[in-house]
Amino acid sequence: MKILVIGGGGREHAIVWRLAQDSTETEIFCAPGNAGTEQLARNVPIAADDIQALLEWAERERPELTVVGPEVPLCMGLTDRLEAAGLRVFGPSQAAARLEGSKRFAKELMHEAGVPTARCASFTNVDEAVAALENFGLPVVIKADGLAAGKGVIIAENHTDAVAAIREMLIDSRFGRAGSEIVVEEFLQGEEASILALVDGDNAVLLPASQDHKRAYDGDLGPNTGGMGAYTPAPLVTEAVMCLIKERIILPVVHAMRRRGTPYKGVLYAGLMIDGDKINVLEFNVRFGDPETQVVLPRIGGDIIPAMQACIDGALTDELVTVRKQAAATVVMCSGGYPGKYRRGDAIHGLDAAESPDDCIVFHAGTKSYDGAVVTAGGRVLAVTALGPDLRSAVDKAYQRVNLITFDGAHYRRDIAHRAFSR
Ligand code: AMP
Ligand code: GLY
Repeated sequence: MKILVIGGGGREHAIVWRLAQDSTETEIFCAPGNAGTEQLARNVPIAADDIQALLEWAERERPELTVVGPEVPLCMGLTDRLEAAGLRVFGPSQAAARLEGSKRFAKELMHEAGVPTARCASFTNVDEAVAALENFGLPVVIKADGLAAGKGVIIAENHTDAVAAIREMLIDSRFGRAGSEIVVEEFLQGEEASILALVDGDNAVLLPASQDHKRAYDGDLGPNTGGMGAYTPAPLVTEAVMCLIKERIILPVVHAMRRRGTPYKGVLYAGLMIDGDKINVLEFNVRFGDPETQVVLPRIGGDIIPAMQACIDGALTDELVTVRKQAAATVVMCSGGYPGKYRRGDAIHGLDAAESPDDCIVFHAGTKSYDGAVVTAGGRVLAVTALGPDLRSAVDKAYQRVNLITFDGAHYRRDIAHRAFSR
């Protein structure tokens, strides 16, 4: 089976790797891919947001399935374009992708569906936004409405910072057009968890819960990043909590999208804030999470292609998804300087020694092949994932393997899963 995977990060390496585990014989292509996907797939040198070039490639090569990794091509309508050419795509339509592409849309939909989320208001006018601050207390959360590569959220501890954040977005265009409208919302307490659900337009199957670490340094300190590590299971998401998430959050949203005539198909990511029995949605993403995918997909047993096909066909059932009882942890190794200006082109050593077929996979993110070697090519370089019978053994193994890998400037967090261990 010929499959095209779109994207070139750790998430896409994990998707390619998981597709390659299926019993069906596959021929996988990855656009643009990285030095990791290259070992399992043929990399196609087309950027993930070059819709026209992707469409031309797909019309010529006719993949039987396309799996879209990042949000940008989904929000640009890649699924619609490929489907119009008669191709099958795992990933939502442009209209459905607004759940991630516009925070105001996501909030409106949640209100319509009765899904719990932080109290909020939207603004395009600075004075109105500033005047509204008094309704939200402190800290207060200011969000750019559109896509801002995970950077469009500012948590302001005081009034001055809140006003500065509003002005930066609405006047200084810090996030470009994505910030020409903002959402101001109340700050929620609690612990975060990520849920990935497969969705077929009507029904959903929830994959195991995970937690990621967004801050750069140990103890959840320092600047925000694309994600420094993740683990699954997430102990705060008990089976009872999982049922609530499905019944009160995922299914109501899926059904509201269907009622609007824009059914949601693909993977729906819910970023949740959990505080006792209060579960609120922080955000929806319309794609697999990164680095959550690097721990969640290794826990899916059996074949995954039939489940993805069933999402496209509106025929998803629980039986199509097998979850392995293991725990998984991933440690993201970053380039020197990341998340600021970072180094590139450093040779990476020890990759082969770190991997073992049953319990450790080194997913590549910002890597490329150069002169027969693998070198760094991005801020987040590798996601070293290990599996084990419990979280402790998975985390310990991941760090053992991280210690075998070296490149100049490498840094990573040493406390992945600390919240689970301190419970
Ligand atoms: P988002 O992109 O909306 O998930 O926001 C990014 C991060 O900001 C989240 O993972 C949370 O850590 C934090 N955050 C967003 N909204 C809130 C909120 N209402 N209360 C507290 N923290 C929030
Ligand atoms: N790990 C957060 C995200 O994928 O958006």
